[in-house]
Amino acid sequence: MEIKTLEFKDEKLYLIDQRKLPNSFETFVCETYKDVDFAIKDMVVRGAPAIGASGAYGVVLGAKEYKDLEKKDFLEKMEEILEVLNSSRPTAVNLMWGIKRMRNVIEGNKELSPKEIYEKLKEEGNKIAKEDVEINKTMGEYGNTLIPEKATILTHCNAGALATVGYGTALGVIRSAFYSGKDIFVYADETRPRLQGAKLTSWELVKEEIPCKLIPDSVAATLIRDGKIDLIVVGADRIATNGDTANKIGTFMLSVVAKAYNIPIYIAAPISTIDFDIETGEEIVIEERDDEEVTHIQGKRIAPEGVKVYNPAFDVTPNENITAIITEKGIIKPPFKENILKLRP
Ligand code: MRU
Repeated sequence: MEIKTLEFKDEKLYLIDQRKLPNSFETFVCETYKDVDFAIKDMVVRGAPAIGASGAYGVVLGAKEYKDLEKKDFLEKMEEILEVLNSSRPTAVNLMWGIKRMRNVIEGNKELSPKEIYEKLKEEGNKIAKEDVEINKTMGEYGNTLIPEKATILTHCNAGALATVGYGTALGVIRSAFYSGKDIFVYADETRPRLQGAKLTSWELVKEEIPCKLIPDSVAATLIRDGKIDLIVVGADRIATNGDTANKIGTFMLSVVAKAYNIPIYIAAPISTIDFDIETGEEIVIEERDDEEVTHIQGKRIAPEGVKVYNPAFDVTPNENITAIITEKGIIKPPFKENILKLRP
């Protein structure tokens, strides 16, 4: 079953509106770069590779709007658009990576007319989207080599088709194992506060009839202690060159328990999630989101008025807690620094 998280057609970007799943399946149509900026900020679309590709298409929509300007004005406007989209969300480096690819297209084609630059940008956006699915499938195959025949797997947040252009990273590994005939079972953390596990990962798993159970986040440690989990696989938003990995809040906590009980924890992420400009996780900007994500559920207040909230969207798992990183170029094992730097594009 194919889930098309995002699709560019008829000069518009069509997104599955992830705020509405699983209760209703709606499409959010972006006609302007501002629509894309909003969609990323409000998490209509989310997940590192998905926002990377959406950001790139946002640049395409920006070029579409301004392609009738004089070249100088067009280039100035494009600079502004690149900046706006680059800062839609701060942690997932795939967004900055996608925007950089679009910037390179603009800079490499300055001699062309705005209309021609627009066409080049569209080609690049389509290339990013196509590559993403291929990369995820390759990653899935590498990751599958780490999955035992009857594995019980724990995952956190949503690193599935919905977090990418298609197929998924961590869920891509799970899909590959399932479709290769392995008798696997998946536990999906609900992933407070936005419930990506409850709303999105379980939606994907149930749709594909992959055996699974949804659990409150606080159940994971008990399952691990009781020997019910063989391995953990999660995605990533940004990986430093020493292997420190930012992912959805709660991943760090899982890694501590996994280490204490000696079960492997794998990160599945494309090379575009590695930030080759930073050495450690301390340099990663962690997004803090609205208090309302914690004080309210489905728009209904559950915490008292006036309570203060701390709501970081991500945490950093230190490299020493990570067993291996699954990429489209193969499986990276420790020593991470040495092995990651070998993959610098
Ligand atoms: O806040 P989100 O939903 O964008 O966070 C998503 C995650 O943390 C994912 O695990 C990560 O982006 C990897 S997606 C393949």
